[in-house]
Amino acid sequence: MSQHSADPAPNSVASATAVAKRGDWWRDAVIYQVYPRSFADSDGDGMGDLEGVRSRLPYLRDLGVDAVWLSPFYASPQADAGYDVADYRAVDPMFGGLLDADALIRDAHGLGLRVIVDLVPNHSSDQHEWFRRALAEGPGSPLRDRYHFRPGKGDSGELPPNDWESIFGGPAWTRVPDGEWYLHLFAPEQPDFNWNHPAVGDEFRSILRFWLDMGVDGFRIDVAHGLVKAEGLPDLGSHDQLKLLGNDVMPFFDQDGVHDIYRQWRTILDEYSGDRVFVAEAWTPTVERTANYVRPDELHQAFNFQYLSSAWDAAELHEVIDRTLDSMRPVGAPATWVLSNHDVTRHSTRFANPPGLGTQIRTAGDRELGLRRARAATLLMLALPGSAYIYQGEELGLPDVVDLPDEVRQDPAYFRGAGQDGFRDGCRVPIPWTREGSSYGFGSGGSWLPQPAGWGELSVQAQTAEPGSTLELYRAALAARRSHADLGAGEGVEWLKAPEGVLAFRRGEFVCVANTSGESVTTPAHGRLLLASGEIAETGNEAKVPADTTVWWTTAD
Ligand code: GLC
Repeated sequence: MSQHSADPAPNSVASATAVAKRGDWWRDAVIYQVYPRSFADSDGDGMGDLEGVRSRLPYLRDLGVDAVWLSPFYASPQADAGYDVADYRAVDPMFGGLLDADALIRDAHGLGLRVIVDLVPNHSSDQHEWFRRALAEGPGSPLRDRYHFRPGKGDSGELPPNDWESIFGGPAWTRVPDGEWYLHLFAPEQPDFNWNHPAVGDEFRSILRFWLDMGVDGFRIDVAHGLVKAEGLPDLGSHDQLKLLGNDVMPFFDQDGVHDIYRQWRTILDEYSGDRVFVAEAWTPTVERTANYVRPDELHQAFNFQYLSSAWDAAELHEVIDRTLDSMRPVGAPATWVLSNHDVTRHSTRFANPPGLGTQIRTAGDRELGLRRARAATLLMLALPGSAYIYQGEELGLPDVVDLPDEVRQDPAYFRGAGQDGFRDGCRVPIPWTREGSSYGFGSGGSWLPQPAGWGELSVQAQTAEPGSTLELYRAALAARRSHADLGAGEGVEWLKAPEGVLAFRRGEFVCVANTSGESVTTPAHGRLLLASGEIAETGNEAKVPADTTVWWTTAD
């Protein structure tokens, strides 16, 4: 028997409207990350823009997602692709203007899609007015207190104030011509705000209101774990900071004080109608610590980076799924699941390589294997209770572009040496919409990062209505999530006995089996085959599930 598709999708407009009316929509929402630079370019300058996003909203509605999260489009010198914001209330001209943002939000709502925008509160751009004035006014300027300015150590202040390193590599401090140093956990063009200063909190509460008044449905909070630094900015005392990152609480990450900020923000959000949400980008050592961010009076969701970092391995996945569900249950927050975003190697390429290489991989690996596993991993993710995040292009099965020439790279970490990142451009290559044409339909004027040969065959056009294509698999899976309430909803899974390397669980009338082993396995057929990421052969009550394949069954009629 060949691959099955899901039940026919209910009329998508009607179902989108139904979703929009439901309370707590975010608990099982599928949220699609748009990286505006690389989604669609409306004016032919080679760079994606808001009008491009707006023009493609019907595609997202038809794909079947509930919400769109837009990476930053604010006024920015683009030292870190917009995560260096110079003006939080303005759209960068390269992306359009406020009227375009307004039109995008309105159109999305008209299609039943929610809009989540990125908020970058840990740092600003060095071109932000506060920082420019702080520099110009010199030591003693009250504006310097809104950032972390310090004298240096050593006889003439020639050494940084402490031993912290930037996440992008090199010291986390830069010295300015008048001799003081300032803190930047990321690039030097991204000075960290001092959240002990009341003006910083006031400003961000006002920025929240600005975008809430514009009608956004929520915020993704960038570096949500970083705002508060340990009192006195103590030395770390280790020269192996990158190893500690993510495994330990650092003096600049995941400090308990951040939670006071989110409690205040929550009261603001709750003043607004319409079920608006916060999602935290909080890299913490454990899912249990991540759960602190989503206590009932704080944020609504936090990305599950432990899940994203897991190998395609049944035992590892089983453990992280259980731990996630167990740690979210006491705080009453939904689990979230994510496989790809704009900071990590796409999961089709991660799974094409041997496990243990981390989330920044520079080799293509076995592409066919990677895609097979990626499709299976996606069906597994979409069968889990809670909310799932999809990164643009993963529905096309795009691989990471691992061979970009050095001269086109823009990731600031790439230029700072031994950072944890540095190769993030590979997942940011503009996506292909059409088989042929300038930048495969991305825009009429090429694309800011070169697209590889063969990109057109992965395009939306090439995959639409193509049986077995990855795009049709995503469409079918998302349609099934809408028509089968057991998918996505609920808080737990009932594990079923399964051979080694295989995950099997029941959720109400629905059963998911994911075969991560390198071999095909025979399992009971658990009802009517709803969807599979590969070819499934059923004989009587048994099914043969090939290697690296996920199957959904339903016992409902
Ligand atoms: C977050 C963003 C990443 C950015 C960093 C600094 O991790 O996802 O893209 O470089 O914050 O803002």
